[in-house]
Amino acid sequence: METVLWASELEIGVKSIDEQHRRLVGMLNTLGKAIGENHGKDAIMGIVEEMKHYAVYHFKTEEEAMEAKDYQKRSQHKQEHDAFIEQVLDAAEALESGGNITPEQVWAFLYKWLVEHILESDKAMGTHLVAQGMQ
Ligand SMILES: [Fe+2]
Ligand SMILES: [Fe+2]
Repeated sequence: METVLWASELEIGVKSIDEQHRRLVGMLNTLGKAIGENHGKDAIMGIVEEMKHYAVYHFKTEEEAMEAKDYQKRSQHKQEHDAFIEQVLDAAEALESGGNITPEQVWAFLYKWLVEHILESDKAMGTHLVAQGMQ
């Protein structure tokens, strides 16, 4: 698992949200390290669970900001968040029950989703929030 470096292109311009994204990227790296070092299933499940928990908190922050600043695409954006949490739950369940998913596949899914969501949906949201005076 490669280490995901924080890049300025991931910044959306709203400080609190950028800090939360950094933390999510940090958790992704912690997970990648645990997988790379062959930590046991319980340790890996624990980190996935922690990431899910933090993602729920983070999504709430974004959803409240979108509501407060009357962002047009907020319901579509929230749907993406909800679908992600469901997929993480499914993945965690499959890992737990020894289903046909590897920790590496879970990591790759989390990585791809997070980076793509930040670069596309969160950036578009950020442009609106910044234009509405958030920083
Ligand atoms: Fe986000
Ligand atoms: Fe988002």
